[in-house]
Amino acid sequence: MTQEEMLAQFEEVGKAASTCTRCDLALTRRNVVFGGGNPLTPLVFIGEGPGENEDATGQPFVGRAGALLDKALAENGMKREHIYITNTVKCRPSLVEGNRVKNRPPRQEEMDACRPWLQQQLDLIKPLVIVCLGAPAANTIIHKNFKMTQERGQWFDTPYAMKAMAAFHPAYVLRMKGEAYDKARASLVADIGAARKKVIELKKQLAERPPDPEAEQPTPKEDAQDPTQLSLFGEE
Ligand code: URA
Repeated sequence: MTQEEMLAQFEEVGKAASTCTRCDLALTRRNVVFGGGNPLTPLVFIGEGPGENEDATGQPFVGRAGALLDKALAENGMKREHIYITNTVKCRPSLVEGNRVKNRPPRQEEMDACRPWLQQQLDLIKPLVIVCLGAPAANTIIHKNFKMTQERGQWFDTPYAMKAMAAFHPAYVLRMKGEAYDKARASLVADIGAARKKVIELKKQLAERPPDPEAEQPTPKEDAQDPTQLSLFGEE
């Protein structure tokens, strides 16, 4: 598949998702938040689900959590264009409390209903590395009953990418105070730095691998890096 074909297919999937009614979140959403950033990247981030700001704009991580994520990316020399970012569910999970509509975590059945969209995104992007932001994404991508306290920052093999790890969700970091906040923030920044390094390491490994005579053609990932990606994830 050429880069153009991949991007065209990716857009088609996004269009199909924009009218999704696979679960009841469709009844209360304003916008489907399919994902954002660069689908040609080797590095994908997966969060929990859209909040109020994302629901209003149709873009992922545009609220306070998104601002912290942008800072953590910037501290590692990256911007949104260097990654693709999406969520375990594409529509805002919400509940009404008094006269307020509040965010809530996605339910398992909502994540299950939404999974085919995530699967198609990952099948097309073929990332080398996935960073799961928070436990719901880690449960979906790494393994069930993922324990953030014990397993955060560790690397796992997955069917979705060569390596995946979980980092603290920026919204969780924002709920911390004082020293706990500083520690959690530093851990998020360090985990993102480790993910960037892992991409570089895996790209090197792939480049040094002897050519496979069985392979029909290079995979899109080996073929499809734009100059930004090459310079960012090239030699240190
Ligand atoms: N939190 C998430 O998990 N995803 C978003 O898109 C925004 C906030």
